[in-house]
Amino acid sequence: MSNRANFGSKLGVILASAGSAVGLGNIWRFPYEAGNHGGAAFIFIYLGCVLILGLPILIAEFLIGRHSRANTAGAYQKLAPGTHWRWVGRMGVLAGFLILSYYSVVAGWTLEYIFEAATNAFTGKSADDFITSFQQFSASPWRPVVWLVAFLVSTHLIIVKGVEKGIEKSSKIMMPALFIIILILVGCSVTLPGAGAGIEFLLKPDFSKVDGNVFLGAMGQAFFSLSLGMGCLCTYASYFGKDTNLAKTAFSVGVIDTCVAVLAGFIIFPAAFSVGIQPDSGPSLIFITLPNVFQQAFGNVPVLAYVFSVMFYVLLAMAALTSTISLHEVVTAYLHEEFRFSRGKAAKMVTGGCIFLGVFCSLSLGVLKEYTVGGLTIFDLFDFVTAKLMLPLGGLFIALFTGWYLDKKIVWEEITNNGTLKVPLYRLIVFILKYIAPITVSLIFINELGLL
Ligand code: TRP
Repeated sequence: MSNRANFGSKLGVILASAGSAVGLGNIWRFPYEAGNHGGAAFIFIYLGCVLILGLPILIAEFLIGRHSRANTAGAYQKLAPGTHWRWVGRMGVLAGFLILSYYSVVAGWTLEYIFEAATNAFTGKSADDFITSFQQFSASPWRPVVWLVAFLVSTHLIIVKGVEKGIEKSSKIMMPALFIIILILVGCSVTLPGAGAGIEFLLKPDFSKVDGNVFLGAMGQAFFSLSLGMGCLCTYASYFGKDTNLAKTAFSVGVIDTCVAVLAGFIIFPAAFSVGIQPDSGPSLIFITLPNVFQQAFGNVPVLAYVFSVMFYVLLAMAALTSTISLHEVVTAYLHEEFRFSRGKAAKMVTGGCIFLGVFCSLSLGVLKEYTVGGLTIFDLFDFVTAKLMLPLGGLFIALFTGWYLDKKIVWEEITNNGTLKVPLYRLIVFILKYIAPITVSLIFINELGLL
């Protein structure tokens, strides 16, 4: 296994992991979940989930990946040969495949918006126009499908180029650029007329509206946003070097990811309230509010409106790309290493399969709208099953595996790099993995089933 690829530098490690974590989950999914679940109270519970579930499980995934140096299913095979733990890895691969399928639909939308921004299609439109044009676009039977295919093919091309050249290099440029433009947009959004109501929505919690759904939503969002619970960061960690500080890397990724999500909230909600768009308008939220921000904030200087909107959608698409790469890599590495397909062939199977499922997800917002399961369209069903069931369940098992099954010596060696690092919260991390994380995830599930 010594010929396995590696990330080239420490910064590359952090940026590639953060590149996986930061994506549409932060900028698209976080605001609409927060909006659906009442704003500030959801955000507080979300932050709690990141701290007490997210970070420790992130460290656990890292150590499983780096110690085994294998794809996620192979990792359990190596660390727990002949046991059922490998199903945790397999479930992760399946989750990754399903997420990639519907995630690419939204990633495709960002390409449409780059195109619209670049051809000046936003100019002179009102808030209502943006709503109608998004609805028409997303329900159209072919346009979103074309973008979906374009996005998956781009992901495919980077994946076949390999780990260091493809993943690491692209993350190094895109991440800092995205962060800067987000800060500029926050500045624009909070100074719009009537933005105050949006800021209040973000900061003033109303805990009376909190129910089991809010907890499940916040937990699901924490897992989704951190790319957790399905072996994504486990697969990346298998490419880490021996001297990578796992706890510190996990902390950096958590902080970067959470900052981007909260800042995205500060772009979307002040803007939404300013033009009277409902915060609970669901997956369309950022696609109907953001074009407004560009028009209103820079209305007098059309050049700026043009430049910022094109740049923003380009960066959003790139953030999505670093995430789709990580999802694709999990499934590709699994097929390549477990079934001995060549990397190229494995990647083709993943891309083809995701295009197939993605088309159904995309059409379920238009012509296939009537086909629902438990009231959910195919698109919503994929989102629900993965983010709210499979990822937390995966996280629960990862915590149990690391806390109870795995040799304590391995855990200690990996977290402290064989005793060369001082990790002040070591005991707390292990305690959380053993008790707190499994109990919390179980309670949220039991509560959701209505048994509590
Ligand atoms: N975390 C990414 C985002 O926020 C999406 C993502 C990438 C993901 N890899 C994942 C989600 C693994 C869940 C599991 O956009």
